[in-house]
Amino acid sequence: MNHRIAVIPGDGIGKEVVPAGIETLEATAGRFGLRLEFTDFGFASADYWQRHQRMLPPDWEQTLRAFDAIFFGAVGWPTVVPDHISLWGSLLQFRRTFDQFVNLRPCRLMPGVRSPLADREPGEIDFLVVRENTEGEYSSVGGRIFEGTDRETVLQETVMTRVGVDRVLRFAFEQAQSRPKQHLTSATKSNGIAISMPYWDERVAAMSQRFPRVRVDKFHIDALAAQFVLHPEWFDVVVASNLFGDILSDLGPACTGTLGIAPSANINPDRRHPSLFEPVHGSAPDIAGQGIANPIGQIWCGSMMLDHLGHPEAAAHLLGAVEDVLALGPKESPLTPDLHGIGTTAELGNAIAERVRER
Ligand code: NAI
Ligand code: MG
Repeated sequence: MNHRIAVIPGDGIGKEVVPAGIETLEATAGRFGLRLEFTDFGFASADYWQRHQRMLPPDWEQTLRAFDAIFFGAVGWPTVVPDHISLWGSLLQFRRTFDQFVNLRPCRLMPGVRSPLADREPGEIDFLVVRENTEGEYSSVGGRIFEGTDRETVLQETVMTRVGVDRVLRFAFEQAQSRPKQHLTSATKSNGIAISMPYWDERVAAMSQRFPRVRVDKFHIDALAAQFVLHPEWFDVVVASNLFGDILSDLGPACTGTLGIAPSANINPDRRHPSLFEPVHGSAPDIAGQGIANPIGQIWCGSMMLDHLGHPEAAAHLLGAVEDVLALGPKESPLTPDLHGIGTTAELGNAIAERVRER
């Protein structure tokens, strides 16, 4: 099978971890007889900004539309471009234009990684956060009136559409149905937000009719945040509106240790547009250029991308190689400094690619 992948390394450590991601993807493709064709793009970066005073070329949409997926590093270099410009000028354009209405973040405690939560073992934390990525609380509906007077009034509306809510719920239920525990948790706040959140609950109940094998529960967002920390083992697939999902999708990976290994995907499940796979971390200016960034977040994104492209076995094989290398620990594997090792980005990428070929 042939897949065309657009590669956008972006800034800082994005340029260091993306090559490791590609190396491990190529090793996996070799094992499974897949053909991945990578095309590199320099836009969505501070370098591009310095040359063109913009983040993207005018024809970026046409260019990227021709690809099956986008493999993205990180964007942001605040000493050259203010963060709101680099983010709104690139990543958010991709998410919106390509209707990537699901933001998916696996939260899994990996072997050899210490959770900041006491006494947690691999296997105890393994859930997915599914965040609605296009509407909800992050709408631009609203405004200010009587500005600068003592009647100054500010309004911002939450927008929930049946189409928007149902499609993210359907995706989450499908994920839950395909996993062994078949359990879905919905984040709500229908006690306080008494119009939109009861609607969300209603749509969850309606969708659950179509997925009779999936066990469903719901928590108010405040209690849910507490349970992520107290009982992460309770969760399998967690679905949430844009704002609640934003918070949970940072809290979840935080419970599993280092930022350096956390992956995320911006998915257009109906596949009319390319989906985008990017690590949770940013460009890390504090360690950029030293060759010590952890490439595992980027590599795990490669595994998610293979899964999305219809190759679940190859995806699992690649992630298994990551787990094997992590499990050996910093004495036997070239783990990077954030994992208490002395390995480099390239060495860790090599070790994982090697493991992909061997296992
Ligand atoms: P950051 O994620 O880049 O770094 C936070 C801390 O984690 C730093 O100490 C960094 O050294 C460490 N870290 C991050 N990734 C690591 C890795 N792979 N291995 C080892 N250590 C790692 O977040 P920060 O510093 O807030 O943002 C830096 C720039 O990145 C900003 O311009 C920001 O806007 C951008 N950013 C971009 C994102 C994206 O492209 N989606 C996401 C987050 C931030
Ligand atoms: Mg966030």
